[in-house]
Formats: sequence, structure tokens, C-alpha cells
Amino acid sequence: MRIGILTGGGDCPGLNAVIRGLVLAGVKRYGYDFTGFLDGWKGVVENLSRPLTVEDVRDQVAVGGTLLGTSRTNPLNDPAMVEQIKANLTANHIDVLAAIGGDDTLGVATRLAGMGLSIIGIPKTIDNDLSATDATFGFDTAITIATEAVDRLHTTAASHHRVLVVEVMGRHAGWIALYAGIAGGADYTMLPEKPTSLVDLCAALQREYGPGRKNYALVVVSEGAELLQQEGHTTQDESSDAFGNVRLGGIGHRVAAAIEKATGLETRDVVLGHLQRGGVPSPADRVLSTRYGVFAARMIHEGQFGQMAALRGNRIVAVPLAEATGETKTVGEDWISDLELLNA
Ligand code: F6P
Repeated sequence: MRIGILTGGGDCPGLNAVIRGLVLAGVKRYGYDFTGFLDGWKGVVENLSRPLTVEDVRDQVAVGGTLLGTSRTNPLNDPAMVEQIKANLTANHIDVLAAIGGDDTLGVATRLAGMGLSIIGIPKTIDNDLSATDATFGFDTAITIATEAVDRLHTTAASHHRVLVVEVMGRHAGWIALYAGIAGGADYTMLPEKPTSLVDLCAALQREYGPGRKNYALVVVSEGAELLQQEGHTTQDESSDAFGNVRLGGIGHRVAAAIEKATGLETRDVVLGHLQRGGVPSPADRVLSTRYGVFAARMIHEGQFGQMAALRGNRIVAVPLAEATGETKTVGEDWISDLELLNA
């Protein structure tokens, strides 16, 4: 059997470890051949591919990024592209396609599986916002980087008695902000799931100042968070990608300016941006990614098409792709009420 692999959407630490796990298990256990499509769905549409051997993947467990490249090409925007995908899979003698991606990439996989193509999915995203799985790979690395940044900002904020605002990724779901805010001991964490009142935010920060207080404060803000005084999300410009995602970013700067204006406290902001996605995966992500890859080979062997590898508790299981991509997994009320306690 010949298996095609693609990685789509934003890159993510652990992609190469998944590819490695899938190729090693596929070749050694089942005797499969592998073809890697380059740059996500674009590579399948334009027939850009390379062979993937055990030698190609052997040393990839700790390498960040994706050796296949990635893009945000959305073939569903054009019926001709879908036909091209079908033709190129046939031309390359691909029996099964393994799509490694987040909600956009796997949303395409869900639709193509519905059209009868033999596709499986593997859940990638630093945002951890895919449903039907307890965790996506890449999230642990992102929160490790974000938490280290918050830890480091404590000392400079304390030295200058400043407020420091740290903007982290998280478009519709605030998982990175939530974890980095809790782990980093932030004084206030802003999530996309619940707009923040400037009055509440400033009151919380001012409580950290005064005789006997620590006299500095840290705020973690998700890029998709909203200040109640503003309308909608803060975007970098009007552009959006092929999946209709606008370019978020800039909320940290606006929050910092609003805090300084309202309180008179000297405030600075830091945007972590793509630092959260670059570089080596954490040990936990290397292990999770490897498990996803090895399990994906088993799913192919068992003919579990239209399914996605998912973490449930400590087990990897197969779940319908449609279940994973139907709804964004956002931070729930239970988490938010605990966070409100910490924000107070
Ligand atoms: O990978 C998901 C994500 O990290 C989002 O949190 C963020 O909005 C987006 O990617 C930005 O990606 P890019 O700059 O590559 O378009």
C-alpha cells in the first residue's frame, strides 16, 4: 500500500515526530510505502511530492517545523482543485492519505472523506482547540515557551515596578493564555471566551500596588481576547487567509495603553507571536506526536478512514473526523470561574 502524508495550516512543534512515528510504524509493521506531499493541500493540488523513507525520518523526533512544508491552501474554495486532488492521488497510486493539521486542514479532510476518499486525520495545533481529543500535539511546547516568557518578565516588571502585558496566540480559544497565565502566576488573564472589563482589569492590577504590596503586575492576554470598551477583535490589518481567518494581533498593545491611561501605572507589552510555534518540541510533545503517528499507521491497517487519532485520558483512540472539526473546543465555564478567582 502507498500512503500519502501532508502537513497543513500553521506549523507546530511535533509535526516531524508524527511523520517519523507514522513512517516507522507503517514501514516496519505493515510494509507500506510513503509519499510526502509538500506544503499542505497545495502539494496534492499541484502534485508536489517526495518519497519518505525510514532514513528520511529517523532523526526527526526533536526537529521543529515540518520537513514537508505547509500552507493554508483551501481546496474547497474551488471544485477544480478537489478534482485535481482526486486525480493526483490516483496518479501517485495513493491508497490512503494521512492529513496532519488543525481545524482548517482537517475540515478539508472531513469533506473529502465524505466524498469517499480514504483519509485519516492527526490533530495538530498549538492552540489545542480541536474537539474530540483531550490534547493536540504542539500545545505543551507552546505553553512551556509562554510560561517561561511570563516567568522571565516577573523580574524585569518587579525591578521597574511596571505592569507587563504578554500577548500569546489563541484565536477563538484561550488555552495557551489560560495555562501560561496560571502557570506563570499572572495577575490577570484575558481569554477570547469572555470579554474583559477595563474597570475590573485595572482594579485587579491596582490591588498589587501600595505599601506592603509587590508593586508590579503581569497580564497574559490571548490574541483573540476583547476589551469590553472595544468593538470586536484586534486585527493587524483587513487581510484574511483562504479559510477566512483574519490576522489577529495587537490586543496586547491596546490593553497596555488602556491600562496606562486609566491607572497611570507604567506599562509595557510583549508579543510572543511565532516564538510559540518555532523550535524543538517539548519531551511531552515528542512522545504524544510519536504515539499519534504510530497509531495512525494502525488506523490505516484497520481501514479506519474518515477517522482521526485522538487522546482520551491516556489512550490514543480513533474518533470520527467530523466530531473533531464540527466545533471549536473553547475554554469552558468551570475553567473560567477558577480563573476569575485568580484574576480577582
Ligand atoms: O497555529 C494557530 C495559530 O497559531 C493561531 O493562534 C494564530 O492566530 C495563527 O496560527 C497565526 O498564524 P500565521 O501567522 O502563520 O498565519
